[in-house]
Amino acid sequence: MTILVTGGAGFIGANFIIDWLQSDGESIVNLDKLTYAGNLRNLASVEDDGRYAFIRGDIGDRALISRLLTRHKPRAVINFAAESHVDRSIYFAEDFIQTNIVGAFRFLDAVSGYWGELPVEEKAGFRFLHVSTDEVYGSLEPDDPAFTEANRYEPNSPYSASKAAADHLVRAFHRTYGLPVLTTNCSNNYGPFQFPEKLIPLFIHNALAEKPLPVYGDGRQVRDWLYVRDHCNAVKRALKAGSAGEVYNIGGLNERTNLEVAHALCDILDEMRPRTNGDSYNSLIALVQDRPGHDRRYAVDASKIQRELGWKPAETFETGIRKTVTWYLENQDWVTAITNADYRNWIEKQYQ
Ligand code: NAD
Ligand code: TYD
Repeated sequence: MTILVTGGAGFIGANFIIDWLQSDGESIVNLDKLTYAGNLRNLASVEDDGRYAFIRGDIGDRALISRLLTRHKPRAVINFAAESHVDRSIYFAEDFIQTNIVGAFRFLDAVSGYWGELPVEEKAGFRFLHVSTDEVYGSLEPDDPAFTEANRYEPNSPYSASKAAADHLVRAFHRTYGLPVLTTNCSNNYGPFQFPEKLIPLFIHNALAEKPLPVYGDGRQVRDWLYVRDHCNAVKRALKAGSAGEVYNIGGLNERTNLEVAHALCDILDEMRPRTNGDSYNSLIALVQDRPGHDRRYAVDASKIQRELGWKPAETFETGIRKTVTWYLENQDWVTAITNADYRNWIEKQYQ
């Protein structure tokens, strides 16, 4: 038995593959284009594992996908591959349309063709799990209830709009062709191997370099933070026990404002790696120009996956954030290797 994952060299995909091989035993094929966000160093601990295979390629390359499916005969595929950073989507929207919509469509199409040829019993057990985001539901007011699976799609960034489009295609492939799909819509993840363009690793990286921690706008935007391994476990539960055609929201029950996140990181760093000048890292926090179209609040109601599939997060924000800071402190060589000229150009463009 084999499963095929896409985007496995990125943040969540890499954590998923490592976790899968540690806990399950089934072989896993990783297809990844290796964009700036894909990093094979994330998978160094599994690269010699006989159950793991890596193929460099694009989810939009139908011929390659069809060849891979025929060769490896997966019983399931999980689509993690995407352009994932909201700020980049504001400058480079077309990359997001290309991978998150056109690529996702071609991938669905190739998988659907393969699935259609499977023997009856394999067909019934097959799953196409599409990893999506809570951002498709748009922005909540402070007192609104958290997003349920019944919320209307109201995406506000090119990133969330492209993910929303893919979710609709996934649904359409189920309704029209019968492809046994699952969609998971998860809140903000954090943890090891997250590229330091996203809030938490960027702030850890900047703090250690004595650079400002740029908080957008008034810093009172709220995100619902989930430790990445909890997300991976939810995906595994959905793959194993989810009903075809269903959508599952995944969330951490950890709503925090961006300022609260920044202070939490600074306090842990003050304790674990005090600054040489004796000041707190909190003095590096700087309010900067807001992100255009910035969503005010996300919060996920994860009661469906808790009730129907028995999943709940193992980490609180306090335990997860401590693990994360510890990981970044112990893996500074990983950060150094990816903060190259391309990375510096992006940071300069975004925060100039
Ligand atoms: P990431 O940017 O760290 O990794 C994306 C991976 O996809 C990279 O390895 C990249 O090389 C690969 N990729 C990009 N385009 C590709 C293509 N055309 N073909 C093949 N591979 C390609 O992203 P992430 O944070 O790990 O997110 C993974 C998935 O989870 C995405 O679909 C994202 O929308 C979703 N998600 C992320 C979060 C979060 O907080 N990070 C939350 C909810 C959902
Ligand atoms: P991010 O990690 O980019 O995730 P998303 O936009 O998908 O939620 O950002 C998390 C929050 O942090 C979001 O409200 C934007 C904010 N933010 C900053 O204030 N400063 C930054 O430098 C970054 C990258 C994000």
